[in-house]
Amino acid sequence: MRADRPTTLGEFLVENQEKFPYATGELSQLLSSIRLAAKVVNREINKAGLADILGMAGSDNVQGEHQMKLDVFANDTFIRTLRSMGEVCGVASEELEDFIVFDDELHNESKYVVLIDPLDGSSNVDVNVSIGTIFSIYRRISAIGSPVVLEDFLQSGDEQVAAGYVIYGSSTMLVFTTGHGVNGFTLDPSIGTFCLSHPNMRFPEQGQIYSINEGNYVHFPIGVKRYLKFCQELDPASNRPYTSRYIGSLVSDLHRNMIKGGIYIYPTGTTSPKGKLRLLYECNPLSFIVEQAGGRATDGFERILSLKPTELHQRVPYFAGSTQMVLEAESFLRSENDE
Ligand code: AHG
Ligand code: MN
Ligand code: MN
Repeated sequence: MRADRPTTLGEFLVENQEKFPYATGELSQLLSSIRLAAKVVNREINKAGLADILGMAGSDNVQGEHQMKLDVFANDTFIRTLRSMGEVCGVASEELEDFIVFDDELHNESKYVVLIDPLDGSSNVDVNVSIGTIFSIYRRISAIGSPVVLEDFLQSGDEQVAAGYVIYGSSTMLVFTTGHGVNGFTLDPSIGTFCLSHPNMRFPEQGQIYSINEGNYVHFPIGVKRYLKFCQELDPASNRPYTSRYIGSLVSDLHRNMIKGGIYIYPTGTTSPKGKLRLLYECNPLSFIVEQAGGRATDGFERILSLKPTELHQRVPYFAGSTQMVLEAESFLRSENDE
């Protein structure tokens, strides 16, 4: 922080470059591209009601979900911006069936792949509720100089070199980690610049908020049902009942819980045997953030970041947030398994 004004994201990237893995300047450049695409998407979201960009695009994505116009716009914007620079050799997106290879001489020399959920919480677009973008960055494992391959994208979350999210909320923020804690930057719309507003973000060890779509209650595993009962019971000594908060935008729910203390749960259910959230585009990047902010992120039993992905659009149950709350929830799942 300067004495008289906040540090800008550009200044932060330059000043912290030596802390980034392999520190050649390419990762800083890549994060700058994400910053630029985020500003373009933010501009479009802000004028959504005016610009005939709300609503369905009339197409479905690879998972059979209806795409909103802004899903398509955000996807195209991030991919176009990343392709226009030379740091990335390929991108995998929640919105696309297969990964994209930037197959030319310049990009084949690049080290990094990006995985992205271009617009998270799209069902909230039309009703003016916070939405987000989630990104995840890895070093390729295939040889530099060749086109990128599937294995480059199927690395475990522990291999991420950087990850983050943008939240388009009452203000727009870019929050990211390169493995040295989590920092949040708020967009000052008057100058179009992200400024360091939330240095070294940390999850409170114990929180009072639980976030889950309780409409799916009948489908939840018995351990989750019992944990919810526990959250709702009166116990003044531990500040229960907890408060229920659920926006339906993962980025927004997790961001709030990181600041206030809480747990986010999207469990398995009979309608979605592996849960709804995607390991590569949502859970891995957010779990990197969660752990770097002192929280805990698991599938109920295993660390998310230790899982070895087997397919691009793999889904996984998700329990993430304040460490003590996630441990508590896990103990209910374990006791269900012991019965
Ligand atoms: P996306 O908009 O990228 O498809 O993600 C939606 C996700 C996530 O943001 C949110 O937490 C969850 O879906 C909400 O699901 P339910 O509507 O089933 O609660
Ligand atoms: Mn999403
Ligand atoms: Mn999405």
